[in-house]
Amino acid sequence: MKGVRINETAAWQALATHHAALKERHLRALFAEDPGRAERFAAEGAGLFLDYSKNRITAETMRLLLALAEERDVAGRREAMFRGEKINETERRAVLHVALRAPRGTRIEVDGRDVVAEVHAVLDRMADFAREVRNGRWVGYKERPIRNIVNIGIGGSYLGPEMAARALGAFADPGLTFRFVSNVDGADFAAASAGLDPAETLFIVSSKTFTTLETMSNAATARRWIVESLGSEAAVARHFVAVSTNSKAVAEFGIDASRMFGFWDWVGGRYSMDSAIGLSTMIAIGPERFAEMLAGFHAMDEHFRSASPARNLPLLLGLLTVWYNNFFGAETLGIMPYAAPLARFPAYLQQLQMESNGKHVALDGGPVAWQTGPIIWGEPGTDGQHSFFQLLHQGTKLVPCDLIGFCEPLSPFAHQHDLLMANLFAQAEALAFGKTAEELEREGSPAFQTPFRVTEGNRPTNVILADRLDPRTLGSLVALYEHSVFTQGVIWSIDSFDQWGVELGKVLAGRIIPELATDAVPVAGHDSSTRALIARYRHRRGR
Ligand code: F6P
Repeated sequence: MKGVRINETAAWQALATHHAALKERHLRALFAEDPGRAERFAAEGAGLFLDYSKNRITAETMRLLLALAEERDVAGRREAMFRGEKINETERRAVLHVALRAPRGTRIEVDGRDVVAEVHAVLDRMADFAREVRNGRWVGYKERPIRNIVNIGIGGSYLGPEMAARALGAFADPGLTFRFVSNVDGADFAAASAGLDPAETLFIVSSKTFTTLETMSNAATARRWIVESLGSEAAVARHFVAVSTNSKAVAEFGIDASRMFGFWDWVGGRYSMDSAIGLSTMIAIGPERFAEMLAGFHAMDEHFRSASPARNLPLLLGLLTVWYNNFFGAETLGIMPYAAPLARFPAYLQQLQMESNGKHVALDGGPVAWQTGPIIWGEPGTDGQHSFFQLLHQGTKLVPCDLIGFCEPLSPFAHQHDLLMANLFAQAEALAFGKTAEELEREGSPAFQTPFRVTEGNRPTNVILADRLDPRTLGSLVALYEHSVFTQGVIWSIDSFDQWGVELGKVLAGRIIPELATDAVPVAGHDSSTRALIARYRHRRGR
């Protein structure tokens, strides 16, 4: 048995005792007894405002959670990350996504090399290329300017770029079309390439490893699509660029080193949307706005590093996640952006949080005896209100939610913005305070309906408000969650930066692929269920 027992520490035990006393208290009572609650439980930084007053907490809860952070040395670990220490222990790597947005001239060293200078060298090359594409100087094989950009990548090499393309659509060059291919299902490539003129289409093959099955299969299909339609292998040089850490594999694919934009092993895939993986974002919004996005990330990095613990947004958000996950037994966390352009933000956060903190072994190699990362899910409001919010209001499960909104509209249909935001505020209010039988009866509810209409309330939410959804704000918002995830990982004593759990499935798929290639290959070595499924598929696939 290994040593770490975070659930036996004084800070953890104090929280458990406190939880037992607090768990029955209703937010109605907590608000009634403290007129200053909204101000007390609010914090602001890097352009984001966090109202966390509608959580099932008191000042004592926060004192105890901050004591837990201190006992777990979140600050020390944070500094180790910023210094470039190899805090990704299972892969012996530094974790330096913060270097991706460090201002030019800052020094952060990994193995004696200043990585910030390297980051800016790549950003400069990206900017040159993005400008060439945007102003039409980069032409395809048939001398036609590029109008369509297709990012091929999966996981961290896809979710950030796709999320950002939607989120920042209002800032994108309207003359360019952006598509994303991730799934190995050929239907995904078919849909992404439908209606595009190959002569005007640029593929960005994004893969940290340049070995990922899905991406390499789609890249090969795209290559065929270009070569067959444009009639020459030589077209590849004008229609493909790569973003990767694996220059050898990129060269083997046929992409020249001058058309490869690199990054480094100290950037985790799910922490890479602000690296060269963001090339499609930069082409869409331009290098200047991309720099604003990086400034937003950096502002939150600085806030995380320097704000006092009680006002520190990522720290608070991370600790509140621990509070519900470990003391209330909440299994999930809902992310509800009240902004249609953030439609893919929950999916982005799914990878960020679940691939980072879905771990069952502590850093010392022993099994954890406490819950780790919650299940992340969500949809934009108000859509969710008309589907699953019923369960949030009246179901039997506790589902803490983050509601994210913006004070200024970005669309030309600004008059609808107040309706959107009214719904955000209303949901937070309804979830917290609910409606009692007495209130319903006073309002004339028929007696037979009253019990069904009661909403208990006491459902916790964080409300995150920013002025507007622009590149800078998006950077701050993503960094907020990155550092919240980091905080949780330190509390749980896990490595938030590896992802060994995804390997087994890849190995098994690699074994099954040849068994599907031809019926002549015997299907052996699996369990009876897998064998029968493969046999049924081979028999019925219609080939
Ligand atoms: O399989 C999981 C994963 O390794 C993610 O961590 C990563 O973001 C994704 O696959 C894509 O990997 P790559 O960028 O190397 O293609």
